[in-house]
Amino acid sequence: LASVEVDVSSLTPGSSLIVKWRGKPVVVRNRTEKEMKDGEAVSLSDLKDPIARNANLASDAPATDANRTTPGKEAWMVMVQVCTHLGCIPLGQEGDFGGWFCPCHGSQYDTAGRIRKGPAPENMAIPVFKFISDTKLLIG
Ligand code: FES
Repeated sequence: LASVEVDVSSLTPGSSLIVKWRGKPVVVRNRTEKEMKDGEAVSLSDLKDPIARNANLASDAPATDANRTTPGKEAWMVMVQVCTHLGCIPLGQEGDFGGWFCPCHGSQYDTAGRIRKGPAPENMAIPVFKFISDTKLLIG
């Protein structure tokens, strides 16, 4: 399927689900206040990859926390959960930055899925998506 509709009504802050989209796992996470604050507190100069990698934005948009989400729904991370090093599946809410940790070679991503440490070259990808209602998301 080119697009997939996801019901996110069960996701309270701090919970996630994973859907398959175009053969890849896409995580949908309703971030906690702390995760959002941690993401916002990071300055662009501390990022290994300063590009948002968000298919909904211009290809050179900066990787601010807001640019890793969608306007008005900044708590929500919708992201291809595939490590940009060699394609392993990182574990959620692990590692030094409270985001994602890749067990294959130790890449660490922050709460906005931005690469912070380890061999991965890029932030994890944000697919085309939009909220079609308060509780429904369309990916692709
Ligand atoms: Fe994730 Fe190598 S595949 S660190």
